[in-house]
Amino acid sequence: MYVSTLLTSAHNRTGFTCGNQELDDWFAHSALRDQSSGVSRVMVWTTDDDPQTVAAFFAIAPTRLGRQDAGLSRSFAGGYSVIPAWLLGKLAVSITCQGQGIGTQVLLNAVENIVTLSAKGGGRLIVVDPVDIPVAHWYDARGFISFTDDIPGSRPASRYMRVDRTLRTLEPISRLSPEEERACAEDLAYSRTFPFGRDLWSSP
Ligand SMILES: CC(C)(COP(=O)(O)OP(=O)(O)OC[C@H]1O[C@@H](n2cnc3c(N)ncnc32)[C@H](O)[C@@H]1OP(=O)(O)O)[C@@H](O)C(=O)NCCC(=O)NCCS
Repeated sequence: MYVSTLLTSAHNRTGFTCGNQELDDWFAHSALRDQSSGVSRVMVWTTDDDPQTVAAFFAIAPTRLGRQDAGLSRSFAGGYSVIPAWLLGKLAVSITCQGQGIGTQVLLNAVENIVTLSAKGGGRLIVVDPVDIPVAHWYDARGFISFTDDIPGSRPASRYMRVDRTLRTLEPISRLSPEEERACAEDLAYSRTFPFGRDLWSSP
């Protein structure tokens, strides 16, 4: 069972490797500074047995998007030209833990945190900037969408999700009315992709 907690100086940051050097370097050298300066919040997954070793992390920060710059449709932007949003700036799973569904659950944990924040402080969209096209498709398969085609050889287009849609799908299915449950299933790949896997992690 993993525990999702705020990054502190007690966590082993230099020992973390996910296979992407840029992310490893950021986690080792900048994550704690970004957090203490208030730029972002960094959550880490550890185990009860080994609370210093990080199995995965994610970082979120407030942001805002220009509808035209981002190429968002008018309805997705809710008719606004500037849209308050949350940036899921970093997400990585230790190379030794990849391929076991942990990344998907870490993403669910990040989205759940954003939903909680937006319920108190607003923010319409979640945005991610994937490191490469395969990772962009990893987000696509988990309910995120893009408005611009990925151009081979360049940085992939950002991916987006609406927080209000997410709110509904994060409710355990058992708590939804049959109509809501049907709407979830019709609305989003997201609701079908996330197995609501709270057995894998908890937030203290
Ligand atoms: C991308 C990443 C978070 C996925 O974590 P994970 O725990 O392996 O993911 P899951 O086990 O939930 O999902 C496994 C699926 O993702 C696919 N996948 C894993 N890594 C991937 C990658 N780098 N690109 C595309 N797909 C990937 C697997 O092939 C598998 O597909 P399947 O379900 O069709 O078999 C992890 O590989 C990672 O940390 N990579 C390096 C850092 C990175 O690129 N982070 C994204 C920042 S934008």
